[in-house]
Amino acid sequence: MRISGSIRRRLFIQLALVAAVLSLAFFLVVRGVAERAAEGTQDDILSASATAIADSLRSEDGRVTLDLPYSALSMLGSINEDRVFYRVVSDGRTLTGYADLPQPNVPPRISTPSVETLTYRGDEIRAVSVTRPVGTGVNAAQVVVTVAQTRQGLAAISRQITATATGIGVGFFLLATALSLWAAGSALAPITRITGSVTRRGPTDLRPVQANAPDELVPLINALNSFMGRLRASLSRTEDFIAEAAHRVRTPLATVRAQAEITHRKLNKPEHKQAIREMIRAIDESSRSAGQMLDHAMVTFRADSLAQDALDLRALMEETCDRLAPTADLKDITIRRDLGPDPVAFTGDGILLQAALQNILDNAIKYSPDDSDITARLTLNGSITLSITDQGRGFGDTNLSDLTTRYMRGANVGDIVGSGLGLTIADEVAKAHGGRLEISPNTKGEGACVSLIFPRA
Ligand SMILES: Nc1ncnc2c1ncn2[C@@H]1O[C@H](COP(=O)(O)OP(=O)(O)O)[C@@H](O)[C@H]1O
Ligand SMILES: [Mg+2]
Repeated sequence: MRISGSIRRRLFIQLALVAAVLSLAFFLVVRGVAERAAEGTQDDILSASATAIADSLRSEDGRVTLDLPYSALSMLGSINEDRVFYRVVSDGRTLTGYADLPQPNVPPRISTPSVETLTYRGDEIRAVSVTRPVGTGVNAAQVVVTVAQTRQGLAAISRQITATATGIGVGFFLLATALSLWAAGSALAPITRITGSVTRRGPTDLRPVQANAPDELVPLINALNSFMGRLRASLSRTEDFIAEAAHRVRTPLATVRAQAEITHRKLNKPEHKQAIREMIRAIDESSRSAGQMLDHAMVTFRADSLAQDALDLRALMEETCDRLAPTADLKDITIRRDLGPDPVAFTGDGILLQAALQNILDNAIKYSPDDSDITARLTLNGSITLSITDQGRGFGDTNLSDLTTRYMRGANVGDIVGSGLGLTIADEVAKAHGGRLEISPNTKGEGACVSLIFPRA
């Protein structure tokens, strides 16, 4: 499986990006609106001031006079420490104020002041002009009153607004980011939950997943369920096949062997007897290797879903020795049992343990000379040890750790036939039960000692 990115990270990054864009937009809008509002306030005061001055213009004997009202300029003083300028122009001639004060480019019309930001004496100023006719009739003069103010106060307000908007924007971004993190996590929570419920299952649990799933995960879960359904069907077909094959191979071979033995007894001519003996030997070999192959398939299959039977290992040993006693008898081999008096309780898969022991004992018989002894021993100390010791040819200089490999046979086998699966089966069974297989030379003289060692419960 190749891991390409993370949904959570992608979701988080996308949400955080959206949050960043929104924060920026928020910042720009707040700052824009607030600055416009501050600017508007200054413009209104400037207009009011200019209008107040314009209102105080009088015409005396055809001359325009001005009695500058105190309030007109004092209302501007409230904004910071900004300087205020004014200029009254009558028909192009400056009546009073700063003669060089620039006027907004757009000429003001009566009742509509014109407003503009200009530069005056190196400072940025906001200038408002209003116009008013003073006097009557043809003598009326068009008087333009301009009031201007520097914009330091506004700049200060603007800085303050910028700082506040930045603070709010950053706060909003951080909050939104934290929420995105949470949202990304909670959007993926169902996946985590379903993954958990699938991984918590035992290895044999192939039931369909029942967990509550959001809409988007339904196809995935359906696919998973249908996959598990097919797997379940295939596993049960395999199990059936193994059982069926074992039955169909072993039963006819047993029949043929029985018939061959009867024939052997009835025959008199030594060469015929010899031929039948060969036949029986071949039958034994093929039923042994067929049995081992099926056992191996069964071990591989069952090891994943180990049965948990309550067993008595002592009884299991007895049973295995009983079962192989006839084979041992053929070679006049005695199987000595050193099993102790008490049952040995163990939880495990009886069929697999039986197969493992049987293969070990079978080897001992196979690789032992006629008229020898085999000892089946059960020892309890820190662990449970089931060992089979023989007086046979031993392992020679075979590398012992290779013998548990599938189809691997030792260098010592000579003309003894075999499939190389016996110790593989024993090893796999031991491992499936949390134990191990120990292969060693017989410490008391010739031969081999093969043991299954399990931890004590
Ligand atoms: N009791 C024993 N004495 C001597 N050699 C043994 C014994 N058990 C196993 N071996 C060696 O281990 C090899 C692997 O054993 P196994 O997997 O049962 O295969 P095989 O079909 O050859 O018996 C054998 O080929 C043999 O060389
Ligand atoms: Mg074997």
